[in-house]
Amino acid sequence: MSQRQVHLITHPLVQHKLTLMRKKDTSTKSFRQLVHELSAMLAYEITRDMPMQDIEIETPLEPMVSRVIDGKKVVLASVLRAGNGFLDGMLDVIPSARVGHVGLYRDPDTLQAVEYYFKMPQEMQERDVIVLDPMLATGNSAVAAVDRIKQTQPRSVRFACLVACPQGLQTFHDRHPDVPVYTPAVDRGLNSHGYIVPGLGDAGDRIFGTK
Ligand code: URA
Repeated sequence: MSQRQVHLITHPLVQHKLTLMRKKDTSTKSFRQLVHELSAMLAYEITRDMPMQDIEIETPLEPMVSRVIDGKKVVLASVLRAGNGFLDGMLDVIPSARVGHVGLYRDPDTLQAVEYYFKMPQEMQERDVIVLDPMLATGNSAVAAVDRIKQTQPRSVRFACLVACPQGLQTFHDRHPDVPVYTPAVDRGLNSHGYIVPGLGDAGDRIFGTK
């Protein structure tokens, strides 16, 4: 896979839904519904270049050779907690995917990402992973999550978000140039609190209604 790929997902339906999500007056219910719909569309784009294999099947009329996705089931790796917002929509499109979770918090003294939870399926060496984290902001948690996932030696890793920014992409690809990023938007930058601007606010709070 070539290096430092950013796949900008420009489909009008994706862009339309993202605009609705960005609006500050969008309710929790609508935001959740939109992230569900949008993540199904992202899954469609992210899996576009997945390796395939030929298998022999029989239609009601005759045998034929037809194509299926190669290898063991895809892993959706959610970076807690906002990554969970992507899961249901992606599972609509990839219903047999396995689901892993990565929990990280930032140590207030060292500012380093500290792992508090990590669970992935078995046989990762034979699986393709899609890491789910809606906001690629500083890039620090994305880097830490992918660092940890790579320790399981998956066959490939892709990263999916709703909104990225130039700093986050730079930090992420400096460390993981081999991991393509799929995003509908690359916003202007970060504010002094590390939020993406214009962005959509705190994705976790908006998905779960915690603010
Ligand atoms: N996390 C969020 O939820 N939003 C941002 O803008 C940055 C990090």
